[in-house]
Amino acid sequence: MTHLRRLEVVGTSDFPRAAADRILNEILGAVRARGTAALMLAGGSTPERVYEELARREHAPWSRVDVFFGDERSVAPDHPDSNYAMARRALLDRIPIPGHRVHRMSAEGPDLDAAAARYAELLPAAIDVLVLGIGEDGHTASLFPHAAALTASGRLVVPTRGPKPPHERLSVTPEVIRSARSCVVLAAGAAKASAVARSLEGPQDLGGCPAQLARDRIWILDRDAAELLGQAGG
Ligand code: 6PG
Repeated sequence: MTHLRRLEVVGTSDFPRAAADRILNEILGAVRARGTAALMLAGGSTPERVYEELARREHAPWSRVDVFFGDERSVAPDHPDSNYAMARRALLDRIPIPGHRVHRMSAEGPDLDAAAARYAELLPAAIDVLVLGIGEDGHTASLFPHAAALTASGRLVVPTRGPKPPHERLSVTPEVIRSARSCVVLAAGAAKASAVARSLEGPQDLGGCPAQLARDRIWILDRDAAELLGQAGG
């Protein structure tokens, strides 16, 4: 499947609205086409305001949406570092989504390999709307530069180890990103500008910049995160 890159660059105050509108648009497209939408959420801090804005969209078809997670830290689901806890706070506790349609990625147990295999069993053949963030080092989901997970063939979810605590995590693999029907990358703030430029305009370097996996997808950027675009070599 080929993808046409789409860049939306907005003022910082407009970022949550623009990102929420785009995600909703992709959800509506999936529901129109197939009757349901498999939405996979990103973690970290950037999406929180976006999810709060998304929760305010009255006409979102939540009864038709299945929610999954692209990665999770190995912490309890109510831990301050939990991506699930953030999604509950910012979105899931604010919308009329049936409980059975929320598929938490349980990464708090002792056996992350078994947890990864269990979660992979839950995933559909393709995610309809995959939301990703990007780290300053170019990571996305919990796929960090030069990680073995980047070449994990035949697996959809794997244990990974991040440089910052909580170190132990679960993450979807590049296969899930590549097969997603729609992918929306969220980046805001000047600290992300270099990673955004490397991802979108730098030389092909998946190992060094895993966010290049979403190079030709939809990117919602605030002006600070976009400030180096058009200046990167290559
Ligand atoms: C995670 C995220 C991760 C995140 C980036 C950016 O679990 O940390 O899934 O991929 O999107 O690290 O995080 P911020 O939005 O906090 O900058």
